[in-house]
Amino acid sequence: MGDLVEVAKVGELESGQGKFIDVDGKEIALFNCEGQYYAVDNECSHVGGPLCEGEIDGTTVTCPWHGAEFDLKSGEAIAPPAEECINTYKVHIDGDLIKIEI
Ligand code: FES
Repeated sequence: MGDLVEVAKVGELESGQGKFIDVDGKEIALFNCEGQYYAVDNECSHVGGPLCEGEIDGTTVTCPWHGAEFDLKSGEAIAPPAEECINTYKVHIDGDLIKIEI
């Protein structure tokens, strides 16, 4: 298991909202999808759009720059122009703290 890093409090994010997190220079986007939390690379694999600002639909995020879509569970690119997947990070809920595994 990797290191657990505290990144937010439960209730800090509304459903459908994303949060930008910087963990030692690693840029990650955390999302609340109807009470389930997902963490992925913040940089879109197309040309680096900020996924934390993307729209959420179910467990899909749409890149705000050119509309690529990623599955937040697998990191898979499911709509162009992105072709490469992004990294996903395991999220742990510990009391009212949200931690991710790096
Ligand atoms: S940077 Fe994300 S779709 Fe282009």
